[in-house]
Amino acid sequence: MKQFLSVHDVDDVDALVAEALRQKASPFSSEELGRHRTIGLVFFNSSLRTRLSTQRAAQNLGMQVIVLNTGQDAWQLEFADGTVMDGGSAEHIREAAGVLGEYCDIIGVRAFPSLKDREDDEREAVISSMVRFSGRPVVSLESATRHPLQSLADCVTIEELRTVRRPKVVLTWAPHPRALPQAVPNSFVEWMQRREVDLVVTHPEGYELSPEFMRDTAVEYDQAAALSGAHFVYAKNWSSYSQYGKILRHDPAWMVTAEKMAATADARFMHCLPVRRNVVADDAVLDSPASVVLQQAGNRIWSAQAVLKRMLEAL
Ligand code: CP
Repeated sequence: MKQFLSVHDVDDVDALVAEALRQKASPFSSEELGRHRTIGLVFFNSSLRTRLSTQRAAQNLGMQVIVLNTGQDAWQLEFADGTVMDGGSAEHIREAAGVLGEYCDIIGVRAFPSLKDREDDEREAVISSMVRFSGRPVVSLESATRHPLQSLADCVTIEELRTVRRPKVVLTWAPHPRALPQAVPNSFVEWMQRREVDLVVTHPEGYELSPEFMRDTAVEYDQAAALSGAHFVYAKNWSSYSQYGKILRHDPAWMVTAEKMAATADARFMHCLPVRRNVVADDAVLDSPASVVLQQAGNRIWSAQAVLKRMLEAL
């Protein structure tokens, strides 16, 4: 695998999920593969799970790991070409990415959207500049529009826990006090489209995801109708795509509660974390046996390990 920016970089999703499960069963079976190889993890935004799970995965494969938090530790970067750099930015991404390429065999990048200018966010300037100027394979640690390592971990979790051949998977919008990106739901939808599931997306009107991601995925505006018969309930907030980056209303009635979970087909509750308790989902859901959020977070290691293994094999 030459890069991992989206599901479109994966030939066979089923095989990659199986690889993640093999890595989980035997975490050190490929520890020679990454010997004398270095991964650089570059964070333009905060992280707990992605940072630590990718580190663990790389270490299990025998790799060295270096981490750069650009906000605190690095020079402020310029991304536009032809700029006269007489302002706050001390370094251009052309040099910064090139230098990272000198130090690392694989580069991971996290760069959230601004949520101010949709076209600008969709250009994915940070991650695409890293691909262009580093000369190294790049793995997305969440970009402006996608979070593929999270989605692969979600696929692994559903594979482990499904009780029927073709489970009903419901992605439900949930409230949140801050405007959040569409990256997790976008990615979840495009990965689920490659799995044997019945996917339904439910949200209040105005929170429609980009048609580029939704394609012909079913939308149900009535959350109760959507949850009926669900085997998996995946809660996530996102801001509006049409009124880009906006919170349109506060909709506390969309919180996932124990009562709503009781109306499903004994569904498992999923969330990518971090989760705001009693805003996105109530304590009774998060503390119930139905919640698999920790298993899901644990599977971030094995999804990263499967991807890094494929990238190391292609070096
Ligand atoms: N789910 C996820 O990406 O968590 P972090 O933001 O903590 O990495």
